[in-house]
Amino acid sequence: MERKEFLRTLGAGAAFAVAFPCVQGCTKGPGLETEPVPTGVDFTIDLSGPDGDALSGNGDFIIRNYVVIARNLAGDFVAASQVCSHQQTPEVRFVESQGGIFQCATHGSQFAQDGTPLNSVTSNPLKIFQTALNGDQLRVFE
Ligand code: FES
Repeated sequence: MERKEFLRTLGAGAAFAVAFPCVQGCTKGPGLETEPVPTGVDFTIDLSGPDGDALSGNGDFIIRNYVVIARNLAGDFVAASQVCSHQQTPEVRFVESQGGIFQCATHGSQFAQDGTPLNSVTSNPLKIFQTALNGDQLRVFE
């Protein structure tokens, strides 16, 4: 079923809610899991093992210590908070759309690889971490 067809089956109100999830202001509903944005991040990923396999293709990502570590579409490593800057749910992932961005599944916020918000869900930048590759060791740090 095409997206447009799916939205039509939901009716106008539901389609509006899907397309514009935060027009009335997002609220933290009951059961919305939140986490603190990670601080003091400094750890190393061994790319000679399973983590290396999981990050072998452009667009791949893994999550460690509430940090999303991705190989972007150019093949470079980038890292961002798994915890969204909007309402702190740990739902940020790397997605391949728009040349590779970070996106939160909770309300649909999108962020450039430098953390800049890309839509109107939030104006708060996503926390970005540095990466440094030394052989098979990928350091992720602030
Ligand atoms: S918590 Fe709202 S978009 Fe991420």
